Amino acid sequence: MRVAERGGRIAGTGRHLPDRVVTNAEMETIVETSDEWIRTRTGIRERRLAPEDVSAADMGAEAAKRAMCEANVSGDEIDLVLVSTATPDRLLPSTACDIQAILGTRNAAAYDFASACSGFLYGLSLAQAHIVAEQAETVLVICTEKMSSIVDWGDRRTSVLFGDGAGAAVVRRSDPGEGGILSSFMKSDGTLAELLYRPAGGARIPMDVAVLEERSHLVKMAGPEVFRSAVRSMCEAADEALRRAAMTSEDIDFMIPHQANMRIIDATAKYAGIPMEKVIVNVDRYGNMSSASVPVALDEARESGVLGQGSVVLMVAFGAGFTWAANVVRL
Ligand code: UT7
Repeated sequence: MRVAERGGRIAGTGRHLPDRVVTNAEMETIVETSDEWIRTRTGIRERRLAPEDVSAADMGAEAAKRAMCEANVSGDEIDLVLVSTATPDRLLPSTACDIQAILGTRNAAAYDFASACSGFLYGLSLAQAHIVAEQAETVLVICTEKMSSIVDWGDRRTSVLFGDGAGAAVVRRSDPGEGGILSSFMKSDGTLAELLYRPAGGARIPMDVAVLEERSHLVKMAGPEVFRSAVRSMCEAADEALRRAAMTSEDIDFMIPHQANMRIIDATAKYAGIPMEKVIVNVDRYGNMSSASVPVALDEARESGVLGQGSVVLMVAFGAGFTWAANVVRL
């Protein structure tokens, strides 16, 4: 039996976006930047900002509830809660356990994984693996990011880029003939970690007054180096996922790339041979929501009818680690 027949399919998706919109004009009042610079260099027009009292777990739970409702599954049916986040509410226990408590998925195991912007694609691969290994029938993959809590609001090189939000999918064992996760590719290169990272605040350099003063617990990024790696890696991931699905770009109805920068999206689509009208974009409205970008785009495209049952979608992402990944999925 082919893996896709025994593996998982996306049975429902959901998203949560905070109401508060921060436009580029507002960013101009916070750091020395301009709407023109942000739009032409990144494609971003605005991003969302979560209120102080709304956490990554809160946003993730909201997205998950919508995905469960759409998939018509109850909390008791969830076997596993997988959470991708670069902004856990606290370092112990996992945000997955906090979300499990909010959702009341009392039969589930729950854990976090840290693949940064590639999180949704790593999550789909994990869900697939647990289903194929017969450890789970129904898995929640939740990507939730309160990037505003780790961004240095005084640093124009990073603060204009990120936004808050959450996306989720219910992945269930598929029956033969149903849609499914047709191929997965994941890769990492930890030697490049310090091009995009938070230097301090973890166990190696615990949080103290010096860390706070130096702001070294906040995101640092070598933008142009990351840009070059992102394009190269997303192209490799797209190639590999297509090869493993025995498909070409002609077989793909839509591509959902990670939403870091419109120029990276353009370059990846061009390389993969996918015309821009088949590429789903939301970076203009939400900025870079790390792992939440791809599932939010997927949910919006399903809701608007752009993607329907049977659509073949190539999802591809790149992020801190470095990590990169792609999946081909038939909805
Ligand atoms: O999601 C995870 C992966 N992340 C990414 O993939 C992000 C990858 N990197 C990028 O998207 C781009 O590198 C950035 C958008 C971060 C930066 O764009 P860039 O075209 O690579 O610009 P740059 O960093 O080379 O900066 C060009 C100039 C610099 O000024 P000088 O040194 O030429 O005078 C920067 O100081 O633009 C300046 N600059 C800004 N100016 C106005 C940097 N940020 C800003 C800003 N507003 N916000």
